[in-house]
Amino acid sequence: MFTFEEKLFNKDVMSLDTYIMFKLKERTDELKDELTKKNRAPISLSMGAPTMMPPKKLLERVKELMDEPNIHLYATPRGELYFREAIAKRMKNRFGVDLDPVNEIFSLIGSKEGIAHLIRFLTTQKEDKFEKDIFMVPDPCYASYLQIIKCSGGYAYPVPLTPENDFKPDMEEYFHKLKEEGFNPDKVKAVIINFPNNPMGIGTTKEYVQSVVDFCRKHQILLISDAAYCDLYFAEDEKPFSVFELKGAKDIAVEFHSFSKPYAITGWRLGWVCGNAAVVQRLGKGKSTIDNGIFKVLQKACAEILNDPEGDEYIKQGNLGYRRKQEIMIKGFRELGWDIPDDKISHTTFYLWLPIPKRFNSAYEFCEAVLEKSGIVLVPGNAFGEHGEGYFRLSFVCSDEQLREVIDRLKADGFSYN
Ligand SMILES: Cc1ncc(COP(=O)(O)O)c(C=O)c1O
Repeated sequence: MFTFEEKLFNKDVMSLDTYIMFKLKERTDELKDELTKKNRAPISLSMGAPTMMPPKKLLERVKELMDEPNIHLYATPRGELYFREAIAKRMKNRFGVDLDPVNEIFSLIGSKEGIAHLIRFLTTQKEDKFEKDIFMVPDPCYASYLQIIKCSGGYAYPVPLTPENDFKPDMEEYFHKLKEEGFNPDKVKAVIINFPNNPMGIGTTKEYVQSVVDFCRKHQILLISDAAYCDLYFAEDEKPFSVFELKGAKDIAVEFHSFSKPYAITGWRLGWVCGNAAVVQRLGKGKSTIDNGIFKVLQKACAEILNDPEGDEYIKQGNLGYRRKQEIMIKGFRELGWDIPDDKISHTTFYLWLPIPKRFNSAYEFCEAVLEKSGIVLVPGNAFGEHGEGYFRLSFVCSDEQLREVIDRLKADGFSYN
């Protein structure tokens, strides 16, 4: 006997749970009063959401634009032309990449929305695991990919990012492996890459991504490059690049960009997809039946900040802050007994990815203990894929004082590594 809900939704959708970050928030809210009473008011290091105020100029422009005629009407789903032109200019100045604002750029209501719709449009719902469309995803990866692929009816085939493969897995090797495991290689629709990476905070080399581009071209597989963190770096020699700096990428790739992190406007929901015109336009056609684009006040203000020296200065200052915060956290965790060699530290994004102390049986058990005792919200590594078990992720996005408080609490509450 099916329940009403089961009759309506397919098995993949029925198996979904609330997204990990919101589940952690619910759990934190449950414990809030109790924790506050024992002087352990929750400090959230779970969400990758910068907490500083957005650029002042951006906020002032938004207020001014509210009075412009016609600005409150529907926007065009593809993004106003001035918005796409500003993006093309930014991509040229930042990466030296040429993109046609008419055919190769489309606005998104946050990059997550765009990635979700693209995956949905690429997937034909199938029940049987071996008939499903396949997405080769990094493991660990941004947890949303796994859920989006699942509820779209696709199969997320994990491609491990490990110290053993220097976080540069050979795609041919995994393509071969999936064939051996009984999957149909013709079902591989896309490879997802995400550098700088969430949750580990690592970057990569152009040589490696070129090899992924070549692999995708050879097998006619779509390459989805998620560049949400491309402006978050604090060492010039680790400056992230765009996939379109590489030979042949436009033949098979699209890249997702976001305003969320560099300008600390995660709540505004703005991003863009760019690259292969056929894919961008097909995604755009689908999206045009679903949404009406981004509020024009935000488009205009963000188009302006994108190529404004004040915008760049804001990002630079933010990155200097992340460097300082990373230092605070690394020093603190070393004092707690974690072994963090200098040459293993990346200088991109605002994530720290560390092993759990050996005395805990799972990442979940460790994170739950730290939350219940110290009021600190961490994310268990297995939320990001199987290879994340035994690790936890924290986002150093709050104030320096709060970060020092985190270390003090962990010390006082006995959460040393050994
Ligand atoms: C790797 C990655 N991609 C995309 C996103 C989504 O960003 P947006 O706010 O643009 O939807 C996030 C957010 O945390 C992320 O970590």
